[in-house]
Amino acid sequence: MREFDAKSITQAVIGRLSECHDPRFKRIMTSLVSHVHDFVREVNLTEAEWLTAIQFLTDVGKTCTDKRQEFILLSDTLGVSVLVITLNHPADQGSAESTVLGPFYWENTPELPRGSNLAEGVKGEPTFYSGRVLSVEGRPLENALLDIWSGDGDGNYDMQMPEEAGMKARGRIRTDADGRYWFRSIRPTSYPVPTDGPVGRMLRKMGRHPYRPGHIHMIVSAPGHLPVTTHLFVAGSQYLDSDAVFGMKESLVAQFERHPTGVSPSGERIDAPFYTVNYEFRLRPANAAGPIDA
Ligand code: BEZ
Ligand code: FE
Repeated sequence: MREFDAKSITQAVIGRLSECHDPRFKRIMTSLVSHVHDFVREVNLTEAEWLTAIQFLTDVGKTCTDKRQEFILLSDTLGVSVLVITLNHPADQGSAESTVLGPFYWENTPELPRGSNLAEGVKGEPTFYSGRVLSVEGRPLENALLDIWSGDGDGNYDMQMPEEAGMKARGRIRTDADGRYWFRSIRPTSYPVPTDGPVGRMLRKMGRHPYRPGHIHMIVSAPGHLPVTTHLFVAGSQYLDSDAVFGMKESLVAQFERHPTGVSPSGERIDAPFYTVNYEFRLRPANAAGPIDA
């Protein structure tokens, strides 16, 4: 057949994959074509709407630089990133759940002694973090690495502050022989994802707010175990039930206990009220099952 109607066009496009010799790519493209065609038919897409979509995606591409990834932000705000993460990192046997990496990760931050203040000179309420890294059976994992980053007490990351020279509120801490970690930083607050680009325009048009609840990022890894890219969310933080990137998971909500001015768990005198938080991360063995089968 050389000519196609609004229904037969789908099989015609899929049929052109007959010479594709990569089975996974063939499966993905077959499904993609079939869903995109169904979507166009379902909403009866007009030519003007099609052009608006093309212009939008062009803008998304033009907004990307080596420091900004607007396509990932689009994926994040449409819930695609967290869907992919959830499928690929099933949390079983009580292992720590994964969530989005976000755009503010900085590789190879300095490894600091346990107990260090990651947020030296950073605005925000002092917070003492502690806990353990364990296997799923509860065995303490010595030498596990916590790669940690957060914004300041106003929700701004160092990468967003041109006047800031260097890294702030970041660092890597290793666990001791009992799997214990502890460090000082600040209590994170809610903040908006970048809204000055096409994704911001899309959120406004959708009638959505751009905020994420207060959270601190961590990648927790240990030899022989699967690393987990995760957050600790501040219990009671605004937007826990409407995270702009759908990354909130109940198991990652931690209680930040408030203490009056006084002596901190590290023995220093703190001239402001401070918080303590304790959280245990369990890691799956490196040979654990991968993605959930469709
Ligand atoms: C963040 O948590 O830093 C973040 C995650 C996804 C999109 C934008 C920001
Ligand atoms: Fe963040």
